[in-house]
Order: sequence, then C-alpha cells, then structure tokens
Amino acid sequence: MNRRQVLTLGVVAGGTFAMGGLARLGTRPAAAQIGAVPTVDRLVLTNVVDNIYDVFARAGRLDTITVQRTPLGPTPPLLAEHGLAYHIESHRGSERREILLDFSLTDINLFNNYKSLGVNPLAADALILSHGHMDHYGALPVLARVGQGKGKPGLTVYAGGEDTFCNRVVVTPGGRIDQGRLDLAELEARGLRVAIVKQPTVVAGHAFTSGQIPRLTDFERPPAAARLVAGPMDSACSVAHFGATQVEAKPGELIADTFQGEHATAFNMRDRGLVIITSCGHAGVINSVRQVQKATGIDKVHAIVGGFHLAPAPDEVVAKTVAEFKAINPDYVIPAHCTGLNTIFAVHREMPARLVMPSTGTRVLFGA
Ligand SMILES: [Fe+2]
Repeated sequence: MNRRQVLTLGVVAGGTFAMGGLARLGTRPAAAQIGAVPTVDRLVLTNVVDNIYDVFARAGRLDTITVQRTPLGPTPPLLAEHGLAYHIESHRGSERREILLDFSLTDINLFNNYKSLGVNPLAADALILSHGHMDHYGALPVLARVGQGKGKPGLTVYAGGEDTFCNRVVVTPGGRIDQGRLDLAELEARGLRVAIVKQPTVVAGHAFTSGQIPRLTDFERPPAAARLVAGPMDSACSVAHFGATQVEAKPGELIADTFQGEHATAFNMRDRGLVIITSCGHAGVINSVRQVQKATGIDKVHAIVGGFHLAPAPDEVVAKTVAEFKAINPDYVIPAHCTGLNTIFAVHREMPARLVMPSTGTRVLFGA
C-alpha cells in the first residue's frame, strides 16, 4: 500500500482505520460514527473572507457567545469577495489548535485579510477544504507555494472525496463557466499531505469532519447547473467517484455534479453542543447537520454556520429549511457566504434571537 492509499483510508484520532481501500472508493458510505468525539472548551471562529464586509454589523455579547466585528482601522481594510475562508482557533485545557478552513477565491484578498486580522497561516495545525469549487480552494495553491517548507511538519489538507480535485463546470444559458481544477499533485509537490477522508474524521485532535453526507431530505438538491468533467474510468476523476447514477462516460463528458465529496467541519463545545460549519452546503445544510449528529451521537446543536447555498432556492425550499432549523433548535444560526438574503430574511423572521449576521472579519467566541 502506498502513501496515497493510506491517506485515502482516513486518519482518525492519531490512528488510521481502514474503510476498504481503493476498490470501494466512490461508493456511498455508511454514516460511520466517530469513536471518541473530541470536546473543546473554547472556540474562536474568524471569518477571514466572506461575500460581504459590513462595518456596521451588530457586535456584542449574546446569551452564550460573543460576536466581534472588525472596524476600519490602521491595518489595510478587509476585502470581501465571492468566496469563503475561516481561521479556527480551539482550546481544550492548555491545548490550542489552529485550523484553516477553505481558502477563498483570490490570494490577494485572502492574504490581505490574514494580515489585517493577525492570522499567521503558517501556524496552522491542519487545513480543511470543504469541496472543489474555486471560491473555496482559490488561494490554496498560492498558500502551498509561499508556505513551502515553512509550515508545521506533516501539514495535511483534509478533503472529502476524489471529486474535490476534478474539473468542474457551471452550465448557464449564456454558456459554460469553467470552474477549473485544484491540482492535488501540485499540493503534494509543495510538501502538503492530502488526506481524502470519506468517513467522519478527527482533525488536529479538536475538530472533525462530517465524512460524505447521505442525502436524507427530499427538498435539498445540488445546483442544477453544476457539472463535473469525467476522466478515464480508471482515474480519480472517473464517474465512479462522482456519486453519479450514470456509470459510463467518455473522458471529457459533463456529468451532473452531486458534490459527493463535500464535507462539513464541526466541533463539540463542552456543555453547549455541536458547532457545524457547512462552508457551501451543496449537500444540503439539513443533511449536513443530520450527518454530524449521527456521526457523533450528539443531538444538541449549538450553532449552524453557513454557507447554505440557498440564494437561488425557491421560497418553498427556504421555508422547509428554516422549519427544519426550528426543529433542530440551534442556539445560533450564522448564514454566511452563499446563503442568500432570502434565507437570512426567513431566519430573521422565524428565529430572530438566533441569527448572527455574516460579515468578513467577524469573530465569534464560543465557550468564552
Ligand atoms: Fe461557495
């Protein structure tokens, strides 16, 4: 077994557990449970880049969290763009971990905001990539290049499926938009390890990923315009790894994108419950929450953090999603990135005390 094969098996809590090897890659996984769910005492979730930067967004102490905003100041102003990036600092006793989740669209914005917010990306203990859209992986190749040889030894990027590294296309009435492809080999050549974790996986001893997400709801659908470019059948970009029902495809053909490898990131806050970050939510925010609950055996949800990818959704889907939010009963909903004003309005109407408005430069202190 070579190194790549080991890494595709999943790394859990300092050990490795086998899930069946390459022959099984691309099959729909069972919702495995995490053996020992890590708990953290404190979490500082910094939204490094988001779609908007609102210097007037409300800050302050809510019931059990503190929301800090970044005003205009002496450092370079924060830049917003269509993209998402988080820095997550977690504490358990004297242990401290830093994780970078997603890498926005452009390195200009991401590095500007890292600097303004005092984030040193080279201090990261782990990197998590939610899925293979360029508004999430955009600056990762540059980070790998400028950080080569400077980051922590064995620094690992956790991805949720082979399709994270395949060419994506959006088909619009005006033509095709090539979303590009993140080059796994280039990341490895820069010294990063890449782990494709299809099952729930502990990251840096504090966080965990959802693993691939079973589609349980009947109203959450992947974007109709999303496509993946098929590779040869024996390649990492064969349709067998796309979750596609169509099993035969010639290389270069466009296949409906089900976002098989998209995963959520989560933490278990001591005495509070789960903090679940969907990033882009193409698997469905409700499906994502249900998967994390199942994987951990923990029902209590402290916060659901976006994006929820509902901006283009019909009103009926938004209403069903918010009804499910109310049933899940999180303490807070933070609808970032691609969530859409339609859904923010609905959360504001139905659960006003739970809503934290998104903005680039927001720091949410959990457990403080
Ligand atoms: Fe996105």
